Amino acid sequence: MVRGSVDYVYSLMSTENPIPSTRPGAASADPVDRIIHYHARTKHHFNRYARSLGFLDWVNQPDPFRRFDGAQLISLPLLKPDEEPLSSAYEAIYRHGAVPCQPVSLRTLSRFFEFALALSAWKKAGESEWALRSNPSSGNLHPTEGYVVLPKIDGLDLASGLYHYAPKEHGLELRSEFPHEHVARLLSPFPSDAFFFGLTSIHWREAWKYGERAFRYCNHDVGHALGAARIAAATLGWKMALLDGVDQDTVAMLLGTDRKTDFGEAESEHPDCLTVVWPGNIMSQASNAERSGRSSLPLILDTAIVKELAGATWNGKANRLSQEHGVHWDIIDEVADASWKTQADSMTVSVRVGLPLSSDTLHASRMTSDAGPSAGQIIRQRRSAVAFDGKTSISVATFFHMMERVMPQAEFPQLERPIPWDAWPYDPSIHLMIFVHRVEGLTPGLYCLVRDNRKLSFVQQAMNPELTWTIVPGCPDGLPLYCLLEGDARKLAVQVSCHQDIAGDSAFSFGMLAEFEGTLRERGAWWYPRMFWEAGLLGQVLYLEAEAAEVRATGIGCFFDDPVHEVVAIKNLALQSLYHFTIGGPVEDRRLQTLPPYDHLRPHS
Ligand SMILES: Cc1cc2nc3c(=O)[nH]c(=O)nc-3n(C[C@H](O)[C@H](O)[C@H](O)COP(=O)(O)O)c2cc1C
Repeated sequence: MVRGSVDYVYSLMSTENPIPSTRPGAASADPVDRIIHYHARTKHHFNRYARSLGFLDWVNQPDPFRRFDGAQLISLPLLKPDEEPLSSAYEAIYRHGAVPCQPVSLRTLSRFFEFALALSAWKKAGESEWALRSNPSSGNLHPTEGYVVLPKIDGLDLASGLYHYAPKEHGLELRSEFPHEHVARLLSPFPSDAFFFGLTSIHWREAWKYGERAFRYCNHDVGHALGAARIAAATLGWKMALLDGVDQDTVAMLLGTDRKTDFGEAESEHPDCLTVVWPGNIMSQASNAERSGRSSLPLILDTAIVKELAGATWNGKANRLSQEHGVHWDIIDEVADASWKTQADSMTVSVRVGLPLSSDTLHASRMTSDAGPSAGQIIRQRRSAVAFDGKTSISVATFFHMMERVMPQAEFPQLERPIPWDAWPYDPSIHLMIFVHRVEGLTPGLYCLVRDNRKLSFVQQAMNPELTWTIVPGCPDGLPLYCLLEGDARKLAVQVSCHQDIAGDSAFSFGMLAEFEGTLRERGAWWYPRMFWEAGLLGQVLYLEAEAAEVRATGIGCFFDDPVHEVVAIKNLALQSLYHFTIGGPVEDRRLQTLPPYDHLRPHS
């Protein structure tokens, strides 16, 4: 066995538990210490998984559909794929300005939700039926709930207010009708016809199955939902930005998750984030911006106005999702509390007014053509592979193209970066450790994509100094992709991914290594969920890229944390793997029947 080969690494992998951490933990007053304690405690080890019930309490399986009983439900039109608004070519959505901008209407909102959070199919096996959605979710448990705050918009026959999206009904539940002048004031710094889109998580849905590790999965799912929403908006020519300057109390107030009387005995919702969405051809309303050609949007809200809105009349009581909760996982409340974003930050994002974006030409040159499937088709057909064939290869060009898609091009101003990174107000802090199995033109082995080349020496120093870091031959300019070790990495990938064959039977799989302790100490404990959001966003891009390349992807939340780190000898918390992912030729499960998503709403003849 050759030192410096993947086999050599495999032979060294220890199957013992690591020495327990002696770091300060739960008892610490420092929220970052509490986060690190949670993270360490919820690692899977070769001989010990993170704490969970250990069996599935089917009787108390949570209802996947939250409803607010008593809130008026407004049905969104069920649109066929060939009905307006039609989606453009999948490739076009990645080019700013290439997709015609649609006005905000009931039909466009219907498409937005269809592509972001709606049902995409029902699966049936024997007597059991379960719904899939446009956004993926760990264990298909779907902890993420979606909301919109709509102003009065010409051509949109809806009252201004807060609406909860009900995916099974494909409708909007009116939680509170907000006075339209107040909503207009709250939205006044943003482009005309902008609205807010927010996400919350019902931690219980994931905790029911996964126990203590569930907080991680809920946040992966938030990232996927953000990605799905950003891409859905792009199909309509809309822009989106994460309003991450807002503190979490304000998010809770605006989305009504702090309304104890409305939740009563029902499972609570954790307010995750708010975004602003706007039709992309409409730029800032500020006249000085029009003169100067540049303006800036705040990524923060006026809390005083949100307080006024929260004083409006609210409708609806949340449904209870499980009869009983066998175990309450206190540590999830603790990590949610430790990572609560208590402070508001006056973040802004720069907008160009009425001019083509400087990055258009560049992004355009990277794309092949606008031929090929529509964005809608790719989004509708997205599924997780349950197994891979162990045969299908992808070409190195396809592989490079996928890698380019996850590069945020941080050298551009935020709103000029390719989607979905234009919605993400941060530079990349996640790098990929890739197990290449079947990429024609690439030697199998272990590779690394450093998503921000300025971090190269940081990433190198966190890993085994003997790794080779060879630039990959033929790699497109500016793609920081390096070969670390050559060899067959299939067994290794399967072993560290909780022995799941999907990590080795694919064309390639990878771990997402987050810049961990340093960023937490620098930014604060609230950064912890955001690392998972970035991982989920990245995964969402690749779910769709896989479909476009006629292969398939699957997210992998189950992996043995420290054994993954051992692969490249990460010894401390500088980098931590947060999510794994795999892409290859899928094997269909023919025992399952697939049914259309909304037949239950259509009148049957
Ligand atoms: C965060 C996350 C973690 C996941 N982890 C695994 C995993 O470890 N193994 C697996 O087979 N599938 C995994 N999946 C795939 C889900 O099971 C899948 O998304 C879900 O069943 C819904 O199916 P769909 O993606 O086809 O809509 C994961 C998905 C997500 C989003």
